[in-house]
Amino acid sequence: MDHTLSHNAAPIGVFDSGFGGLSILREIRKVLPQYDYIFLGDNARAPYGTRSFQLVYEFTLQSVKYLFEQGCQLVILACNTASAKALRTIQQNDLPHIDPARRVLGVIRPTVEKVGEISHTGHIGVFGTPGTIQSHSYDIEIAKMHPSFKVYGHACPMWVPLVENRESDGDGADYFVKKDIDALLAQCADIDAVILGCTHYPLLMGKITKYMPPRIHVIEQGHIVAESLKDYLRRHPEMEARCAKGGTCQYLTTEDARRFSSLASVFVNEEVDARHITLAT
Ligand code: DGL
Repeated sequence: MDHTLSHNAAPIGVFDSGFGGLSILREIRKVLPQYDYIFLGDNARAPYGTRSFQLVYEFTLQSVKYLFEQGCQLVILACNTASAKALRTIQQNDLPHIDPARRVLGVIRPTVEKVGEISHTGHIGVFGTPGTIQSHSYDIEIAKMHPSFKVYGHACPMWVPLVENRESDGDGADYFVKKDIDALLAQCADIDAVILGCTHYPLLMGKITKYMPPRIHVIEQGHIVAESLKDYLRRHPEMEARCAKGGTCQYLTTEDARRFSSLASVFVNEEVDARHITLAT
């Protein structure tokens, strides 16, 4: 890709390894309904959470490039694993070569910015994929912004497969959600806020609220990321001008389009007619 690429107004790209990013897209569209969006789910290669840094980076970069080829000027990585493992490298090493005028934003920093307003004890639990927890991205970002806070991470390797396999309401979900909540809270009795640090997890909210003690604030990212994007576009009018305003949304998946459409329709509360795509490797 070279710098002769057009900067005409285009949809905002929203990327996730699978269905999880829909929990972010839904909230973004509530707060910013005027823009056009393209959602890309790499369902064929989900979950990313157990994959190496290198693979998550390669897969994410392929998706970002694809969205850029569709004209997107701004891409949101609606995926904590990709935000933890690929965002910085893409921003620092790839964007300057691909097109320095385009932007890729993640979901971890906006979430961490909010935590200070929510926790009173300063003891924060984080649920995430094994990749996100092992990357210590939340620990690092929270230490920068709230140095007195203590972070307790817990990886939930079964939660994403439960969502991707449409088992969010089943008995298996009860078993794993309860087990992981108990394991996180056993680390510290003073945890008063738990970040759902994976965009798939809000899709298990029914089970999470069933087993989470009510005194604990469960932090969902969708609304936080949406408000942060709104603020970003207010502060960057040059980017705002390059976001097309038609109120439309296209859905792309690397897996079966019919399967994607039927589940996605439930999450976003509207008819979804997804298109299958193949990413260049
Ligand atoms: N939804 C993604 C996240 O926020 C990734 C889940 C996965 O593919 O493992 O981490």
